[in-house]
Amino acid sequence: MRELSLHILDVAENSLRAGASLVEILVEEDIVQNKVIIKILDNGCGMEQEYAAKVLDPFITERTTRTVGLGLPMFAAIATHCSGHLQLNSEPNIGTEVLVEMERDNIDRPPIGDMASTIVSLLCHDNPADILYRRVVEKDEFVFDTRELKKQLEEIPLTEPSVLNWIREYIFEKEDYYQRKGASDNEINS
Ligand SMILES: Nc1ncnc2c1ncn2[C@@H]1O[C@H](COP(=O)(O)OP(=O)(O)OP(=O)(O)O)[C@@H](O)[C@H]1O
Ligand SMILES: [Mg+2]
Repeated sequence: MRELSLHILDVAENSLRAGASLVEILVEEDIVQNKVIIKILDNGCGMEQEYAAKVLDPFITERTTRTVGLGLPMFAAIATHCSGHLQLNSEPNIGTEVLVEMERDNIDRPPIGDMASTIVSLLCHDNPADILYRRVVEKDEFVFDTRELKKQLEEIPLTEPSVLNWIREYIFEKEDYYQRKGASDNEINS
């Protein structure tokens, strides 16, 4: 089973390829409503309505190395399989929003996975952007914003190995807390 963090990486890489300067990623677990909500919002080149409508078809891609674009159709298939859906909203020159919802306790729902590696991979991309990552479990929320971090680091680039290591560990620890919290809230609600 492919972890959700890898699907999120795919979708956010699309945003970087679309020339976004900011990618906002939300991963939310709503335990009461039994939902996992994932939102990836960018300010990249966007898509014409007609093209956006076709993008969920696995034979549509801009890639020249491969004829089939699978990122969005695969994510949509997983969401549908877990009694949810993927919604794509895009506007040329404004940006794109990918919204995914799925049943949290569905037996086939993949784990959230390694979001620390997803964020670090995006920061190491050829065409990097600022990342605003929000992780929510019920009323608890954690935010990681590269714009804030850059202010604190001043001259030091985010891609400095010691900085990347710090980011990875920081997000990993937070994620660990949230995954435990999700599991214990589950028990309270069951
Ligand atoms: N955020 C976005 N902004 C602009 N265009 C996008 C965005 N996301 C997807 N697209 C367009 O939709 C196409 C299909 O995306 P999808 O992720 O399904 O496949 P891919 O990225 O082409 O290939 P793969 O994900 O399999 O490596 C892309 O090639 C691109 O043209
Ligand atoms: Mg893709």
